[in-house]
Amino acid sequence: DWTMAAFRDEMIAKIREQVGDGRVICGLSGGVDSAVAAVLIHEAIGDQLTCVFVDTGLMRMNEGKEVVELFRNSYNIPLIHVEAEEMFLSELNGVSDPEKKRKIIGRLFVEIFEKEAGKVDNAKFLAQGTLYPDVIESVSATGGPSVTIKSHHNVGGLPERMGLDLVEPLRELFKDEVRALGRELGLPDAFVSRHPFPGPGLAIRIPGEITKEGADLLRKADKIYLDAIREEGLYNEIWQAFAVLLPVRTVGVMGDARTYDQVLGLRAVTSTDGMTADTYPFTHDFLSRVSTKIINNCVGIGRVVYDITSKPPGTIEWE
Ligand code: XMP
Repeated sequence: DWTMAAFRDEMIAKIREQVGDGRVICGLSGGVDSAVAAVLIHEAIGDQLTCVFVDTGLMRMNEGKEVVELFRNSYNIPLIHVEAEEMFLSELNGVSDPEKKRKIIGRLFVEIFEKEAGKVDNAKFLAQGTLYPDVIESVSATGGPSVTIKSHHNVGGLPERMGLDLVEPLRELFKDEVRALGRELGLPDAFVSRHPFPGPGLAIRIPGEITKEGADLLRKADKIYLDAIREEGLYNEIWQAFAVLLPVRTVGVMGDARTYDQVLGLRAVTSTDGMTADTYPFTHDFLSRVSTKIINNCVGIGRVVYDITSKPPGTIEWE
């Protein structure tokens, strides 16, 4: 009779056996998977675990702060917090090609992570929140071009370079099981049910060049959209919902003046693993309310559109 509690205990035993008295480094992304992996490993080996959180400045509103508070204050897990927004924005300055953005972010992330991880004495292991679908995807990646449409960034190559063995306690789990395990471990529900968020973050939700102003504007609009979804009680029915700040200006009217502001795209999809997806059927009334709220509160956005493309042929993200 398989239960999540039994799985947790079994994993804790396995982690202890694998790690012995070695030290483990775990990269936190701000997402559910790495957080669940970290808390599970911390239950197994306590302060032999050090977490490293590289804040790219490309996360959603307040999410970086929430991760730090959760790990430092609630769990007391040793945490190295690197505030790297300026570094990421300056390296991304003037870059608009989606794959170039991913490469820059991936490279910089690994550089920063490696430097910080190098400060942890006697580190022997690197922990990752790899899930079962990630395992399958990287196996099938050798088979054809279908999964190389977008290069997902991870810490590829880093374990070998640093001479670290991998600890991947979530390798057998699907997303919903990771969430159940997170609840079993006492992680707050709001955290556990967070929508997946891509490593390159808002950089791939701002087609074209990224600026600090653009990222701030997108964060503000995205929060209004997600708050409305939560208030409507729809958050957990949706796999991912987010806003995209388009590099397109359109004409509008405000009072008796002409405006010339940017377009914001809204996306919401249902899915079980991110491989295929359907658009979420919001009511027109809901979408109009969100649109009005965003335009009234976000100076610089003059028009809101809803993306009704399924995957395939569209991808979930716009880049
Ligand atoms: P797409 O846009 O390919 O996204 O339909 C499928 C899932 O993957 C996420 N995604 C990424 N995650 N690095 C990541 O870590 C990336 O470069 C990346 N691109 C897309 C996307 O948010 C969705 O959950």
